[in-house]
Amino acid sequence: DWNSGNVIAEQVARIQEQIGTGRVICGLSGGVDSAVAAALVHKAVGDQLVCIFVDHGLLRKDEREQVEQDYVASTGVRLVTVDAREQFLSALAGVSDPEQKRKIIGREFIRSFEAAEKALVAEAAADGEPIRFLVQGTLYPDVVESGGGTGTANIKSHHNVGGLPEDLQFELVEPLRTLFKDEVRAIGRELGLPEVIVGRQPFPGPGLGIRIVGEVTADRLEILRDADAIARAELTAAGLDSEIWQCPVVLLAEVRSVGVQGDGRTYGHPIVLRPVSSEDAMTADWTRLPYDVLARISNRITNEVRDVNRVVLDVTSKPPGTIEWE
Ligand code: XMP
Repeated sequence: DWNSGNVIAEQVARIQEQIGTGRVICGLSGGVDSAVAAALVHKAVGDQLVCIFVDHGLLRKDEREQVEQDYVASTGVRLVTVDAREQFLSALAGVSDPEQKRKIIGREFIRSFEAAEKALVAEAAADGEPIRFLVQGTLYPDVVESGGGTGTANIKSHHNVGGLPEDLQFELVEPLRTLFKDEVRAIGRELGLPEVIVGRQPFPGPGLGIRIVGEVTADRLEILRDADAIARAELTAAGLDSEIWQCPVVLLAEVRSVGVQGDGRTYGHPIVLRPVSSEDAMTADWTRLPYDVLARISNRITNEVRDVNRVVLDVTSKPPGTIEWE
């Protein structure tokens, strides 16, 4: 029967056979799949692997540190971080349309990744051992969804910002191709990866960029990041993570409502909580969270996050509502 130790040993042997003495790169998204895929490859070939992490500025609080510090400490992978925050913000300036945002974020992601990749390729070539492989965290359901073909770099075109350019000159290494998500998590735990990464709920590639209804600005990102961190901390503290598939926290940046705080009238933005229960994200129901947990989240967000004076709960199932607001 299934045993994560066996799978690890098997995959490590396969990876070693495929890669030999070659060099290999991997993009980390901060999510479970790429983290576990890279950890397996690192276990197999050590420093022949270099990981690239693009900070597009649309990450949640502490996510970059969790990759740069916790993940690197627990795996020992060599990591190159691309700080592309300014680049993404200026590309997104003035844009409110959700699909437009996705396109821009996808395009800028590929640009940043390729720039980092080119630098590494040049460095490796100068070194006499070129980079010939690219790791992808493709899971079994992704393989099925895309028709089971091999050798193409772009698996999920619909959603994944991690989608890479099609003209890649690399051979793919896909150690998770036969696995389901819970198996990937088990392997990640067995490999000693940080629980904040292994246990992470789904988070969209375009990140907080599609959770600000309206234009994305640095100021709004900061507000949303603070509100999101509070909601996540309280849900985790209440032991509710396993009941919730994910809980988007959304900033209605172009809506203001009147409030009162201290002696004064406020005119601030609403934050939407969107906790959902789901098996596969295709359909979902809104999670019936305990009122006291909702009350704590609401109190903390309105007290601690500037410019937010109202917290509302989304009680729509999917369909008709999607999980995300954009
Ligand atoms: P919706 O909003 O379509 O979301 O009900 C279904 C699942 O997909 C995630 N999602 C995305 N993931 N890029 C991604 O990588 C995207 O553009 C994107 N849009 C939605 C969403 O978080 C949910 O898990």
